[in-house]
Amino acid sequence: MTPPTEDTPESEMKLSAERMMELAQLASRLIIERCEGLPGEPAWRGGTRAELEALLREEPPEHGRPAEQVLERAAREILPVAGRVDHPRFFAFVPSSATWPSVLADYMAAGHNIFQGTWLGASGPSQLEVIVIDWFCDWLGYPETGGGLFTSGGSAASLDAFVAAREAAGAPDRATVYMSDQSHTALSRAATIVGVRPERVKKVPSDDRYRLDIDALRSMIAEDRAAGLTPIAICGNAGATNTGAVDPLDAIADVCESEDIWFHVDAAYGGFAILSDEGRRLFTGINRADSIAMDAHKWLFQPFETGCLMVKNVRRLEAAFSVRPEYLQDTEWGGEHPNFGDRGLQLSRSFRALKVWMSIQTFGMKAFRSAVTRGIDLAAQADEWIRVSETLEIANPASLSVVCFRFNPPGCDLSAEELAALNERIQTRVIETGTAMMSSTRLRGVYSLRLCILNHTTTWDDVRSTLEAIEQFGMDEISGE
Ligand SMILES: Cc1ncc(COP(=O)(O)O)c(C=O)c1O
Repeated sequence: MTPPTEDTPESEMKLSAERMMELAQLASRLIIERCEGLPGEPAWRGGTRAELEALLREEPPEHGRPAEQVLERAAREILPVAGRVDHPRFFAFVPSSATWPSVLADYMAAGHNIFQGTWLGASGPSQLEVIVIDWFCDWLGYPETGGGLFTSGGSAASLDAFVAAREAAGAPDRATVYMSDQSHTALSRAATIVGVRPERVKKVPSDDRYRLDIDALRSMIAEDRAAGLTPIAICGNAGATNTGAVDPLDAIADVCESEDIWFHVDAAYGGFAILSDEGRRLFTGINRADSIAMDAHKWLFQPFETGCLMVKNVRRLEAAFSVRPEYLQDTEWGGEHPNFGDRGLQLSRSFRALKVWMSIQTFGMKAFRSAVTRGIDLAAQADEWIRVSETLEIANPASLSVVCFRFNPPGCDLSAEELAALNERIQTRVIETGTAMMSSTRLRGVYSLRLCILNHTTTWDDVRSTLEAIEQFGMDEISGE
């Protein structure tokens, strides 16, 4: 045993200012090189478990290695083996293309290691979160009572909303929640986490454009009430993941008002389209929702873990989450000083609002409005191009920035299964040749290719060349090449 000494030994993990600067510069260079090279790289790279085990598996080293080597290894062997979700031709799932100031904001927030759970812990950052959330509330048309918080993403935001909805309804035993058959599974999962039995998470049929059917909703509620169940929330989509469908939000708000049920809007993917004329038109009635979940890491060009929840009366959120343990008594500064840990699940939280604030301060709202509108315009252009193509067909017209389609040349006469297999092979070629990253879906069980165009650097050339490649790969496939 080492005998006690008077002097505490210096931390082995503290670096000199000079070393910190050297490493920060190297990290910046590696990221910037990656960003600059991105358009010439494939939009996706993956590896099997076996390959990556062989590359990365090791015991944690007992003694440190040169930090430059560690950084280089992360940049060359780990980080590139991933979807390049910010690639201009990444059209799969829901892309995310962070602006550089928002990336720096993550770095700044981590560098200051902000604890954003209480006003005492982070007054300046909390004030900024209030302000940025107020901006969002304004864009959505919420009254002064509106407020909310940043979350890890849309799943967490909807979970927080359902807790508020359940408490507002008096936490009934036999609770039901309604959502369209197109709603994201994050919502059904969140509903079951808050205690709604899976069979009481009701899927309302959608119409021929995948929008929730209001008449079906009304009859399901009437039937359930008659059976002694208690509806606690109805969810509307402001951009369903599959097709970009926007539910009739105003009509859902009417049902919620007449039935006295919480109205939640899942706008995780589509919400920031509120900055465009088309979005405002489609989202009529969104301001009547009790709560709205949005992901700034999707259509507001932020790095991941920038979700948020806005609640029309933020007191209802606080009523559901606020706790007052004695060990946090010093943090109670009164109602004007919100503790964001009292508005949701997380007490230890990072400072997410800085990302949005820094990128909007740097580029201005005009740039954001035009970047959001660009996604909608490019999807509309893709839709028109597909309609005049001789080999492609629309599976669902462009809605917001999503367009669904398939390769189906005339006279091909394939069964549904054969057509699905053909389109799957095309999709594989699109990815394997590095042309683009594109995902697929099934619409009422029928296989469909799907483009989600969300990147602020994507051009019409990126979209058109991808569609042309799909046509070409399709023709190659049927001619056996
Ligand atoms: C419409 C919709 N809702 C919810 C989610 C889940 O959000 P998150 O992945 O941020 O938790 C997504 C994710 O793509 C989505 O598109």
